[in-house]
Amino acid sequence: MKRYEDSSWQDRMAISFDFNNMMADFVGQEGFKWEEIESLEPVLKRAGQAMVDKRKAGEMAWRELPYNQAQVVQDIIETADQIKDKFDNFVALGIGGSALGPIAVQQALNHMFYNELPKEKRGGRPRFYVVDNIDPERMEGLFDIIDLEKTLFNVITKSGSTSETMSQLLIVVDLLKSKLGDKFSDHIIATTDRQKGNLIKIAKEEGFKTYYIPDGVGGRFSELSPVGLLSAAVCGIDIEEMLTGAAYMDKKVSQSNPYKNPAYMAATLQFLAMKAGKNISVMMPYADSLKYMADWYAQLWAESLGKRYDLQGNEVFVGQTPVKALGVTDQHSQVQLYTEGPFDKVVTFLGVGEYRGKVAIPKGYEDIPAVAFLSGHCLNELIHAEQVATEYALLKANRLSRTITLPQVNAFTVGQLLYFMEVETAFAGELLNINAFDQPGVEEGKNATYALLGRPGYEDKKAELDSRPKKNEKYIIR
Ligand code: PA5
Repeated sequence: MKRYEDSSWQDRMAISFDFNNMMADFVGQEGFKWEEIESLEPVLKRAGQAMVDKRKAGEMAWRELPYNQAQVVQDIIETADQIKDKFDNFVALGIGGSALGPIAVQQALNHMFYNELPKEKRGGRPRFYVVDNIDPERMEGLFDIIDLEKTLFNVITKSGSTSETMSQLLIVVDLLKSKLGDKFSDHIIATTDRQKGNLIKIAKEEGFKTYYIPDGVGGRFSELSPVGLLSAAVCGIDIEEMLTGAAYMDKKVSQSNPYKNPAYMAATLQFLAMKAGKNISVMMPYADSLKYMADWYAQLWAESLGKRYDLQGNEVFVGQTPVKALGVTDQHSQVQLYTEGPFDKVVTFLGVGEYRGKVAIPKGYEDIPAVAFLSGHCLNELIHAEQVATEYALLKANRLSRTITLPQVNAFTVGQLLYFMEVETAFAGELLNINAFDQPGVEEGKNATYALLGRPGYEDKKAELDSRPKKNEKYIIR
């Protein structure tokens, strides 16, 4: 039996959501009263019903990913095993929702210095790179360190048309073709929509192995689809455990009672915070392994909730600006602002019960008590104490914070965390009465790029751009 099939292990690995420090009994008048939450009951009921209706209507297909991928998961596991024997490098090309999940999961679940380990210590698995930007220096740099003959590229784009990713594809195809001739297509796997976009056309023409991103699963909600599962499996992560963790969380966040549903409660408190003008949401993991979860969350929260119009078309200009921080590093920078600056933030701590490593602080300099007191403790105690201390400092300064604790960082708890934050975001969208699943602001930038680079069909957009006001030299200092 696998450990994640054991229900008592699952319960020991349940992540918790602690919102004491969001409440007025703890943080004083900046916090919320239980009655305030209760007074939202009609709104919570409407939002809860919308979640159920949309799920039934297939508009939240990402919610079914823990359940409906048995076949593709088996294929991914087998493919990952074959990749191991053939390749030394696995490079994901994608951006936004097609990159941040793979980065976050790899950082969370693999060795901190995975790529630097010798191959046998990586279980014979390839090194993993995500090239999510199109900085030419980084792209050139990549080709300095990889051997194309031993590299597999995973091109990931839901729309199949994003300029950044398609440019990367063109570059890689060109290089591979000149180096490997006809065999080049064995070095590319496409992950995209089954029908829409250009990547699927190219993939069919060239015979790339292809994984599909199911309908109704948008970029930032796609980590538990092949977008994230392939790279995770290639790097030896147990993707079945991760999906089981997501399914375990689904049970909790499907409860209609908002007082029992951690994602609904989390979203409700953020909704109240936004109404109170706390328009900044800081995510502060106390673990390097969870560092990029804050990046993944930042995209999810910002792109889903930052909206101009509500569902009725009224201008609302809502959203909460996500900020990434890292405990303890940012205690020595940003926390000054969080404790004494404006009352405009909610800080979410991501804590870890039991770290995977234990480092003792040895004895030394016993004649200096202000140093010697550290001896006999371990870094685990120190990092935990610093998290408690920061929570306390914020509490004392009447600042709102919440704490999500993972008993351990493993595939099961990471699956829970991803799913929790996705449902929290979707429910927050319902409370704000906006569409959490579109991104017209992002599309505008994509379209303007197409126009600037001469994509056919974007001539009007080009004319619109050309008629923008010319820069005034007076406002540029050289
Ligand atoms: O969440 C989103 O929809 C976006 O961030 C997309 O993931 C991002 O723009 C990349 O799009 P695509 O996967 O279509 O290339």
